[in-house]
Amino acid sequence: MEKQHEMDQFIENVAAIVQKGGDERFITAQVAAALGVLLKSNYELPTKYRVPNKNKYVLYPVYVAPDESFSVASAVWDVGQAAPIHDHRTWGVIGIVQGTEYEVSYVRPTDEEEKPLKELEKSYLYEGDVAVCCTTDQDVHEVSCASSIPCVGLHIYGGNIGKITRYMYEKATGKKKAVVTKWDKVTN
Ligand SMILES: [Fe+2]
Repeated sequence: MEKQHEMDQFIENVAAIVQKGGDERFITAQVAAALGVLLKSNYELPTKYRVPNKNKYVLYPVYVAPDESFSVASAVWDVGQAAPIHDHRTWGVIGIVQGTEYEVSYVRPTDEEEKPLKELEKSYLYEGDVAVCCTTDQDVHEVSCASSIPCVGLHIYGGNIGKITRYMYEKATGKKKAVVTKWDKVTN
């Protein structure tokens, strides 16, 4: 049986945090704390949100707020998969459900700039870890699966991430390309 109660509670908590509003650093700190509580609870992410796709990493919609003020995504990287350097254009918090995620963050160039990207930080995130991945002013990173099992993370974003126009970057030149990462279909 799916243990949905903990997720329902988490969604209620995030909705209250988002509605209260404030600085993105304040919002993400509170969402990160709530996500930590969820990951330590008995909640089990249903298997339908853990299915990798052998061709590309996938993003499943676990929850999208009716007013699109936030969304909860399950991001799945199969062993050896990576997401190209991208931004989010909103805030984001990541919690690891299984496996290991390797993240390289980059200094966000201004929208007018096109120059080689500068690395900011490299980090490994393990099962149970929570991290603030993004605020609108610092949201460029590259993510890959660093475990021998698929890496599954719950990613919370400050909008409907399946609809936001955002950008993919070329590391050497800083050239960017607009993309919308559409939600992948959940199969039961
Ligand atoms: Fe990302």
